[in-house]
Amino acid sequence: MDVLVTGNLPEDIASPLTDRFNVTVHQQDRPMDRKALLSAVRGQHGLLCMITDQVDAELLEQAPDLKMVANYGVGFNNIDVAAATARGIPVSNTPGVLTDATADLTLALILAVGRRVVEGDLFTRQGRFQFWAPFHFLGQEITGKTLGLIGMGRIGSAVARRAAGFDMPVLYHNRNRLPKQEEDALGARYVDFGTLLQQSDFVSMHVPLTPETRHLIGAAELKQMKRGAYLINTARGPVVDESALVEALKRKQIAGAGLDVYEHEPELTPGLVQLTNVTLLPHMGSATKNTRRRMGAMAVENLIEGLEGRKPPNCINPEIY
Ligand code: DGY
Repeated sequence: MDVLVTGNLPEDIASPLTDRFNVTVHQQDRPMDRKALLSAVRGQHGLLCMITDQVDAELLEQAPDLKMVANYGVGFNNIDVAAATARGIPVSNTPGVLTDATADLTLALILAVGRRVVEGDLFTRQGRFQFWAPFHFLGQEITGKTLGLIGMGRIGSAVARRAAGFDMPVLYHNRNRLPKQEEDALGARYVDFGTLLQQSDFVSMHVPLTPETRHLIGAAELKQMKRGAYLINTARGPVVDESALVEALKRKQIAGAGLDVYEHEPELTPGLVQLTNVTLLPHMGSATKNTRRRMGAMAVENLIEGLEGRKPPNCINPEIY
């Protein structure tokens, strides 16, 4: 069978695939451009795609022989799962292996924006650190501040566990409330969405991107947040209305934001880079060597299972079986 891998996986991670199938690997760092992807997918039986590839009905049309799509990532908003399901194509993702890395980076952003770490670094590099003064670079303590988690799945829960180390009271809002025992173990209190916005010093997004979560945070929600609060987003850019966020930051309606993802990624909403009260990262939540290797191994295993006619362990649309 023929397999297309749209990202440059390390050879040893890809080898279970290359041992079995005729594999074409997109060996560049940049994502495949759309035209190249549409042409390369023709005649393929398996597709191991990156979160930057739009696997939609148009692409599936071009690939009538496709038997399996394995996403290299846990978020799968880049894939039209309904269209794949309608064609009987299993789709998989990589849950679990990137939970810790993403939760760690969430804490890094909380610390960075609260304590102005990036601003301080820039100031020092620029040779402007010429004396210590009692009121330079005053930030916000993290310890004891209230953390509001929007979404309490694997990553939200891992962030709550880390927050305990900073004595942060944790509020959360989720589609489904957790069982009391889990809430107690995480030290998290369920509140309605409005209460979370009004009471949190740090509001952190941990929801998948779906039609229901698009622009979950917009102008009205930003207005409900405390003036001294920070918004953190390591989930998906479009869950925040980025233009509304830029406006709120400009007007100092909230204190700042830490973003790893963007509404029109990789483009940034005009005005964002000029703001000093934001920390901006290039979608690197899962970017540790170990995690990226484990994601690759997981995607490879899913693809092999699907192509060999077995249900992939991380199948998103098991109803096709
Ligand atoms: C994911 O897996 O969804 C991350 O955003 C990229 O690793």
